[in-house]
Amino acid sequence: ERLVVAIDGPSGSGKSSVAKEAARRLGAAYLDTGAMYRAVTWHCLDAGTDLTDADAVARAVREADLSISTDPGLERIAIHGTDVTTTIREPFVSEAVSAVATNLEARAELVRRQRAIIGEQPRIVAEGRDITTVVAPDAHCRILLTASEEARMRRRGLQLGGATAEALQRQVVERDAKDSTVTNFTTATDGVHTLDSSDLDFEQTVQAVLTLVER
Ligand code: CDP
Repeated sequence: ERLVVAIDGPSGSGKSSVAKEAARRLGAAYLDTGAMYRAVTWHCLDAGTDLTDADAVARAVREADLSISTDPGLERIAIHGTDVTTTIREPFVSEAVSAVATNLEARAELVRRQRAIIGEQPRIVAEGRDITTVVAPDAHCRILLTASEEARMRRRGLQLGGATAEALQRQVVERDAKDSTVTNFTTATDGVHTLDSSDLDFEQTVQAVLTLVER
């Protein structure tokens, strides 16, 4: 039976790792939409596209030959044949990604591609910032995964290693502020379950997601 699970949440909410593990246990595919925004951003930087030129960014997205793995056990994304799976996690990409994320034409194109990928899969967990609201508002289960700012900083800190807490805090708060101008992921709309993971560990959060999917 067909299953679409949509999960949104801010940076550091743990949505990627939680969504991927939930997908594994549900025997479902997994789509990391943030990776698509990151890959296109990387490509613009690599190709010397002027990120302040909205038309150029939109064109780059429309023309992007993007391939992304939907196997939760295989993380792989390539753009124009270049594997960018690890590069897109670098800070220089995170710092530039809002140029793509705030571009409405670019978003429309990525949303179109995300819907196509979701449509091809019998069972899928898709994760991002606008999946519950724009990409798959008709998903069987929609979850907004939140966490207190403190919990999110803590997790980001663990993920990134050395960086100082203050710099981290600034980065995450700034990127979320930029994001929230185009995607609203802080309050859940009707029919979306809010799951606050501040006081839950990874396993408890995955279980909470599975419980919401099963009910
Ligand atoms: O690293 P983090 O979890 O914060 O973000 P991500 O999921 O890798 O997404 C990277 C960036 O892509 C976000 O900061 C958003 O600007 C953008 N994004 C978006 O606008 N809409 C989505 N559905 C997914 C990501």
